[in-house]
Formats: sequence, C-alpha cells, structure tokens
Amino acid sequence: MAPLEGITGSLFRNIYQKHFPGFDRFYTPFFGNTGFNTKEICNIGPEANRGIPLVPQILSNHAEDFLQIAQRMKDYGYKSVNLNLGCPSGTVTSKGRGSGFLRDPKALDAFFSEISDKSPLPFSVKTRVGYEDESLWPEILAVYNRYPVTELIVHPRLKTDMYRPGLRMAAFDYAYRNAAMPVIYNGDINTVEDYRRITETYPDIQAVMIGRGMLRNPGLIGEIRGQEPAGDRAILDWIEDLAKTNYAAYTETPTLFKMKEIWTYLQDRYPGHKKELKQLFKAKKLYEYENAVAAILR
Ligand SMILES: Cc1cc2nc3c(=O)[nH]c(=O)nc-3n(C[C@H](O)[C@H](O)[C@H](O)COP(=O)(O)O)c2cc1C
Repeated sequence: MAPLEGITGSLFRNIYQKHFPGFDRFYTPFFGNTGFNTKEICNIGPEANRGIPLVPQILSNHAEDFLQIAQRMKDYGYKSVNLNLGCPSGTVTSKGRGSGFLRDPKALDAFFSEISDKSPLPFSVKTRVGYEDESLWPEILAVYNRYPVTELIVHPRLKTDMYRPGLRMAAFDYAYRNAAMPVIYNGDINTVEDYRRITETYPDIQAVMIGRGMLRNPGLIGEIRGQEPAGDRAILDWIEDLAKTNYAAYTETPTLFKMKEIWTYLQDRYPGHKKELKQLFKAKKLYEYENAVAAILR
C-alpha cells in the first residue's frame, strides 16, 4: 500500500486491512521533522499498528535529521525505513526535499554517503524519475546504485508532472534494466489489467505499490489475488466502519473532511450518482453525509 499523506494513517490502515486484506506491506505517509507531535506518535507507535507490516517513511535532505528519525523508528521496533524522494508538493520541493532533491545529484550523493555508514536501519528509496526533465535520471540512478539502498520504488513521473496522466515508462525501463537493487513499480495501477500489464512486461520486479487504485476500487488487492470483485455491500461496510472509527477518534468536522477525501477517489465507481455525490461533498453534518452514502450504496 502506497503512502498517502492525510489518508493512510494508522486508523485507515487498520480498517482497510480488516475489510480488504491482501496488502503485504504498508508504508506510512512521510515523517518530516525530528520532534514528533502527539498525533504523529499515535500514528507510528507499535500499539496503533499491531499486525500491520509497516515501513515508516522519512522526508529529509539533512543527514542528521534522517539519522535521528531512523533511530527513533528503530526504537519503536521497525526493521527498515524508506526515504521519500518523490513528493512533488511546492512547499516540500522548495526546501530541496522529496522530488526537489532530484535537482542536485551531487548533494544527493553527499547525503547518501553520510547516511549509509551511520544509518541505524536499512533503508529503501521511493523516487520520481526527475524534477523537470529526465536528463538527470541516469545520474540519479547511479547515485542510488553506489549505496546500500535495499529497494527502489519508482514512480515514473517528474516533479513537474504532478499527478497528470501519462507515465514515463522509458525512464522506468531504464531503472528496471540498470538498478543494482530490486525495483518496485508504482503508478496508476487501477485495475487487474494494469497490474498484469506491468508484471508481465517487467517479470523481475520485486513488487508493485498501489495508492489511489485501492481507493477507487477497494477490492483491487483481492482481485489481484484471485478473489471476486468487492460489491457495494462490502464497500458500504468498510466506509461506515471507517467513518465510525474516525468519529470516535476525532470529531465531526475532521471526520467529514477525511471521508470526503476518500470519496474524491471512490466516486469514480459511481458515475451514475452525480446528484448524491454532490450532496455528499456538500454535507456539513455527518448525518447529511451518511444519507448521501446510503443513497449511493444501499
Ligand atoms: C493525497 C496523496 C498523498 C500522498 N502522500 C505521499 C507520501 O506521504 N509519501 C509518498 O512517498 N508518496 C505520497 N504520495 C504518492 C503516492 O504514494 C504514489 O506514489 C502516487 O499516488 C502514485 O501511485 P498511485 O497511482 O498508485 O496512486 C501521495 C499521493 C497522493 C495522491
């Protein structure tokens, strides 16, 4: 399961796993600073993630910070961490983090050189294929190849592509053929056919990572594993459980916010319910939201 900041926190992971088992590894949304707040501690602590094979993700371009967070993850009992070199958000890249770090392979090399000897845990990398063009991709990959990166998760888009349609498969192909470590594919797997196409074209990839596809179709992971597609009943049970659990943990407004964010993806399944979806996104009260959900799913 791909990390989706603001969506795939511990509560989401637990409920998803209960209703739609099948993911064999989860990644946390990124941790960016060394002083964790209470919310972050609740999200990452072992109590909140029992039975979930979880890899914490770190967003940093400072070796010291990375090492400090990695140590903290080790103290929590985690066995590895993941470095975020993909986030395209302007507030992140303007500070040279996430995909912003990809502009400067030399600085990236210096960073890896510092963390490689000292990291308390093995680390993998999740990366885009460049900042504004693909010209540096071979150089970036050569940096990864020089260090003990355990796995390379490649999302074949540039920072400037954001999430626009179109994948840079030639760049993925290059990584597949030239990476020194196992490669994991990530990007736009929304159907079983997408999954098959990728795994048949690239039979040696270690795994695939799925993000928005598991929100658009929560049954996707089961389908990939040979199960029947999820029906509306299963989706209703899941979405109700999620709202109920969020409401118990937070309050009405944040629950509504979180549920609507999930529906921005889930709505693709229900193109015939424009009116109800409009009501859902307009809802100011939980009961208004619940009425709209019932109208769509019952
Ligand atoms: C709302 C949202 C939040 C995301 N948060 C993170 C994050 O915290 N860390 C990260 O590495 N990628 C993050 N991503 C990127 C996804 O993990 C993934 O790489 C991307 O969505 C492409 O995969 P998909 O097409 O399967 O969704 C985020 C994407 C979205 C849409």
